[in-house]
Amino acid sequence: MKIQTQTMTQKEIRIGYTEYSSIAEMQPADRELASEAIAAMNNAYAPYSHFHVGAAVRMSNSQIVRGSNQENAAFPSGLCAERTAMFAAAAKYPDKDMQSIAIAGGVYGRLAEQPATPCGACRQVMAQYQTKAGKPMSIIMIGSKKIWKFDRVDDILPLIFDSI
Ligand code: THU
Repeated sequence: MKIQTQTMTQKEIRIGYTEYSSIAEMQPADRELASEAIAAMNNAYAPYSHFHVGAAVRMSNSQIVRGSNQENAAFPSGLCAERTAMFAAAAKYPDKDMQSIAIAGGVYGRLAEQPATPCGACRQVMAQYQTKAGKPMSIIMIGSKKIWKFDRVDDILPLIFDSI
């Protein structure tokens, strides 16, 4: 009789990212994008949550496109800042790649302490534009106490379907 050998293994996914304690520590291009995301918070329309989110996308032609969360009385009709920014950027520059997105959230222009982390639906949209580009898209999540930078969407959406 053949004895079955054990082949099951426990695996682990490790994610590396950079933590900054202030925007001043970042590279100039990332610093600029972070400032754009913070400025975009002022354009949020959030009469229900009162949570103001700004996002800024850097395109391969160096143009930056801002977005902010837009809420609606029919709740699901509203949209997060990230998707507002990405869809606006894709609509404006359909032939360019998205290189990076910065996200900032808080109440009435005052940044929250914790970095703003994108929802699952926004991550999936990031994944799609990264795949379309065929190059990594970095994500910068901004808080008043710390800032996180992830080098590719895979790092915030592990086991991506159809990754680059
Ligand atoms: N929101 C964003 O715009 N981006 C995020 O990453 C998280 C949440 C918005 C959706 C809603 O308008 C408000 O913040 C509260 O959830």
